[in-house]
Order: sequence, then structure tokens, then C-alpha cells
Amino acid sequence: MPRLKYATFLRVLVILGLFCVWLQIMVSSGLERDGDSSSGVNVVDSETVLVTTEREELMNGNDTSEQVLALVPQELHKYLTVHPKNNTANTTDLPKNITEIRRAIKRYNDAQTIYNEDIYGPVLNDTVIIAIQVHTRLTYLRHLIVSLAQARDIERTLLVFSHDYYDEEINSLVRTIDFTKVMQIFYPFSIQTHPNEFPGVDPNDCPRDAKFEQAIKLKCNNALHPDLHGHYREAKYTQTKHHWWWKANRIFNQLQSTASHTGMVVFLEEDHYVAEDFLHVLNLMRTTADKTCPQCELLSLGTYLKTYQYHATADKRKKQLTLSYIQQVRAANEERRRRKMDAMASWNYQVYPNFYGYTQKVEITPWHSSIHNMGMVFNRTVWNSIMSLQDQFCEYDDYNWDYSLLHLSQNRKGKEKFKVMMCKGPRVFHIGECGLHHKKSNCNANLVISKVQKLLQTTKRLLYPKRLTASINPGGAKHNKKLVKGNGGWGDRRDQEMCTNMTKIERQLKKYTYFA
Ligand SMILES: *[C@@H]1O[C@H](CO)[C@@H](O)[C@H](O)[C@H]1NC(C)=O
Ligand SMILES: *[C@@H]1O[C@H](CO)[C@@H](O)[C@H](O)[C@H]1NC(C)=O
Ligand SMILES: *[C@@H]1O[C@H](CO)[C@@H](O)[C@H](O)[C@H]1NC(C)=O
Ligand SMILES: *[C@@H]1O[C@H](CO)[C@@H](O)[C@H](O)[C@H]1NC(C)=O
Ligand SMILES: *[C@@H]1O[C@H](CO)[C@@H](O)[C@H](O)[C@H]1NC(C)=O
Ligand SMILES: *[C@@H]1O[C@H](CO)[C@@H](O)[C@H](O)[C@H]1NC(C)=O
Ligand SMILES: *[C@@H]1O[C@H](CO)[C@@H](O)[C@H](O)[C@H]1NC(C)=O
Repeated sequence: MPRLKYATFLRVLVILGLFCVWLQIMVSSGLERDGDSSSGVNVVDSETVLVTTEREELMNGNDTSEQVLALVPQELHKYLTVHPKNNTANTTDLPKNITEIRRAIKRYNDAQTIYNEDIYGPVLNDTVIIAIQVHTRLTYLRHLIVSLAQARDIERTLLVFSHDYYDEEINSLVRTIDFTKVMQIFYPFSIQTHPNEFPGVDPNDCPRDAKFEQAIKLKCNNALHPDLHGHYREAKYTQTKHHWWWKANRIFNQLQSTASHTGMVVFLEEDHYVAEDFLHVLNLMRTTADKTCPQCELLSLGTYLKTYQYHATADKRKKQLTLSYIQQVRAANEERRRRKMDAMASWNYQVYPNFYGYTQKVEITPWHSSIHNMGMVFNRTVWNSIMSLQDQFCEYDDYNWDYSLLHLSQNRKGKEKFKVMMCKGPRVFHIGECGLHHKKSNCNANLVISKVQKLLQTTKRLLYPKRLTASINPGGAKHNKKLVKGNGGWGDRRDQEMCTNMTKIERQLKKYTYFA
């Protein structure tokens, strides 16, 4: 009967209408928080490259705002508390010199100590290992630790902090962690411990901008090997890729305690922040992938917030004004990569407010370096497949580990490129968006952290989904485009050789040595 049909139709319409209104409310409450982002918070660099290693960068502001603290449980405040240096003990507490730092690093790496193992039990073959690459951004690291402390099941994991900067303050923070097993590994080829020699800057290295003929005349070290743009090596740009590679090799191939490990390894960085259900979602993703997408070798828990505005709408002049030193360095480099970023413009990218709609959605798609490099997860099987093509990683003229991995992914003989299962409602956030020296009103760590905190609080009831819905996104043509050449910065034969050397180190047994 038409009458009845009409009524049903009306009912559906009303329900739909109500749903839309609800959605509007949800989204706009997200947008509101988003709205103040003209302050430069959205001047975000989507790259993971953390450059420069100057000591001054070691940031440890005393400015954790009340607002941020209010959302941190009292018992976790200790990770945010800055302990003033004990000046009365200055004679015994001198900072270590390079020789001493190298010695300490060697001792720690030899000992392979796992803290809290007595409380939380040994590393099992399926223990989730969370590898955190740490440079010097202590304030962010504090917040990452706070977020990890609140994650369910964190006590069953092993946190591996991988440092390329030795600092007692960072070390003592890491050692205060009492909610799970903790290990520290120290990248032994850092610029810090090699200030006047490769892999740091050797006085006889060619200047970055030297012309080829000029370099030959100068007889500088690497005269024959500029990168594909004709530039010579810059130590600070190479360190992140070296460190990433060393850390992965160390964890999969060298540590005694991972010899029979077959479980997942999660890759985080010091300025990430996790949602409390990230391990729950990770396990769901793994089982979903095993059932529906065995070819999904990589999982990705993260998404960059608002990366897009940066490239699409950011006003260049404003950008320069609001950039910190680090970001300026990056911006200079941005030109190299713009081509690649533009290639992603058609990518249907999930921005911040959409979190609400996506807490339980995952997407299966070809892995793309700059989109899926955050909160990346894989296991030994995948690592072995990466290792079998290590020269694609080590010899590719690109100083970014993620682009190098993309290159490798696109050159797998007889295998498709990596597929990723990506979490559309991100469980890992990038909080290190703001400038380091940036003390301007709105652009500080607190603002971003408090945004993420609030987002997670508002969506609390949407966390811990019971199941996931997966969709397949083949990616646009541009997105699938083969990399033609790298971004450069990795032309120096010494970098390529050191990268290869790192894969040759065999598994090492713990050496117990006593030291105070
Ligand atoms: C840190 O904050 C506390 C409390 O707000 C204040 O008393 C102290 O002077 C600050 N210290 C520094 C070094 O700014
Ligand atoms: C600490 O250092 C300062 C300046 O270097 C010096 O004046 C002071 O006596 C030292 N204090 C101790 C306890 O050594
Ligand atoms: C500072 O160091 C001195 C000497 O080592 C020690 O007696 C004192 O308790 C320390 N103070 C603090 C606040 O740690
Ligand atoms: C570093 O300190 C050690 C002892 O603490 C000392 O023997 C060595 O000479 C120092 N090295 C340099 C380069 O200052
Ligand atoms: C992990 O260890 C358990 C018990 O030691 C064993 O039963 C299981 O087969 C191992 N799993 C893998 C994948 O090696
Ligand atoms: C490791 O990951 C691969 C690809 O995702 C999967 O097929 C394999 O079963 C995993 N291995 C273990 C031991 O879980
Ligand atoms: C790589 O290892 C070889 C052999 O041990 C060594 O001679 C060479 O200096 C190493 N190269 C770098 C850059 O570390």
C-alpha cells in the first residue's frame, strides 16, 4: 500500500535526519577544538626526520600546564616532574666526557639489562616489543611515557628505548618506569660520540655545497660521492636513518632476549602519544589481518593530524615566521620532497575530527612511506624479507628511512609491494608538531598534548572496539607511482657501507659487568 510505504519512508527520513544532526554535533565539537589552529599548530611537517643534535635542543621545559596535568592521573605525575639539578654535588656529578660516554654506552649495550624483568616476567616469543627511537626531546618523551603507562596490557610488553644521545636526565627518566619491562639500547655511531670524525662531521669532509671540481681540488674525503643533487654529506641528516636501521637490526638480530621472538615489534618515536587501547586494537588488527589479509605485512596504528593543510593551504610567508629553527631546516629540505608530497594530494586523508567516525575502521592499502610510517608494526618474518633486500635500503640515495623502505617495497622481486592495514581512528598520535624553541602563545607542546588528551577523553566510550571493519583502498595512481629517484642526502659511500656493516653484527650474549 502506498500509504504505508510513505509512512515507512518518512520514518526512515526522520531517523536519517536525526543521525545527521548527531553527526554534525559530534563533528563540530571536534572542529571547534580544531579551529584555533591558525596559530601555527597546523604548520606541521609530516616527515619523521628529526634533525640536528645540538645540545641546546635538549628540551625540558618546566611548563607542563595545569590543564594537561589535570588529565594525568596523580600517580603518573612523577614522569612529568622535572627534578632540579643538585648543584651542591657538582664536583662529583660532572657531565661525562666523550670517552666516558662511549664507555658507558658499550657497557649498557653489552649488559642488555632488562629492568623490571623480575616483576613482569621474561620476554616471551610473542611479547609485544615497543621500540622507541629517542633523540633529545625529553618533554615529549615524558608524555609518551605517561600515555604508555595508561595503556591496557602494557605490563605484558617490553619497552626498548633506543638512544642516539646519551644524557643522564633522559636515562634516569627511563629508569623510573615501573609499569612494565624496560630496556635501553644506545646507538653507538652517534654524532655525539663522534664529533670530529665520521659518522659525525670530519674536518676534512667536503662542504655540502661544494661543486664537484672544487671538491676534487680540495681533496676532501668524499669528493667523489656527492648525492644525486650534487650535495655533499650532512651528518645530522643521515643520523635518523642510520639509527632506525641500527635499532631494527639490534632488536631482531642481535639481542640475546629476542633470539626466539616471533611476535610484533611496534616502532614509535619520542614525540608520539598512544591511546590507551592501542594494544587491544593492535591485537584485533593482527587477528583480522590473519583472517582477511594475510598479505598485510605491515600494520599502522597512527595517522598524522592535519598534515594536509600544511601542503595545501599553508601560507608560505606565515610559515616562515612561525617556524622554529628545526622546522626551518626542514622547510629548506621540504623542496626536495614537495614533488612526492604533491603526489599524495589525491589521497583521501583522514583528518582530526573524523576520528569519531573511525574508531573501529581499518583500511587495507599499499604501504606509503610518509603516510604510514607512524606506529608501524611488523614481525620477524617481515624483517627477514626486508633484510634479504638490505642493499635496496642501504644503497638508495635517500636519507629518509621511510622512503628507503618504500623503495625496497617497490623492488621486491616476485613479491608485491608492502600492504598495510591502517587504523583509521589513530591510536598513535604525533605530538611533537610544535617548534622546540617556540615559546609563542599557542604553539607549545601543551596545546597539542592537551588536544590529544581531550580527543581521547571525548571518544573514550568508542575505544576498545569488539571487532574491526576493514575496507580496501587501492590508492590513487599517483599514490602508487614508482619512486624514480631518492631525496638524496645518502650519496656518501661511507654511509652506505656503515649501513651494510650494521647488518653483519651477529647475535650477542649478555655480558654481565658490574658498574655503579
Ligand atoms: C617550575 O615551576 C615551579 C612551579 O610552577 C616554579 O616554582 C619554579 O620556579 C619553576 N622552575 C623553573 C626552572 O622555571
Ligand atoms: C659548585 O660549583 C660552583 C661554581 O663552579 C662552586 O663555586 C661551588 O663551590 C661548587 N660547590 C661544591 C659543593 O663543590
Ligand atoms: C645533593 O647532593 C648532596 C651531596 O651529594 C646530598 O647530600 C644532598 O642530599 C643532595 N640533595 C638532593 C636534593 O638530592
Ligand atoms: C675523560 O675523563 C676521564 C676520567 O674521568 C679522563 O681520564 C680522560 O682524560 C677524560 N678525557 C678527556 C678527553 O677529557
Ligand atoms: C612460543 O613459545 C611457546 C612456549 O614456549 C611454544 O609453545 C610456541 O610454539 C612458540 N611459538 C612460536 C611461534 O615459536
Ligand atoms: C608475521 O607476519 C606475517 C605477515 O603479516 C604473518 O603471515 C605471520 O604469520 C607472522 N608470523 C608470526 C610468527 O606471527
Ligand atoms: C665496515 O666494516 C669494514 C670491515 O669491518 C671496515 O673496514 C669499515 O671501516 C666499515 N665501514 C664503516 C663505514 O663503518
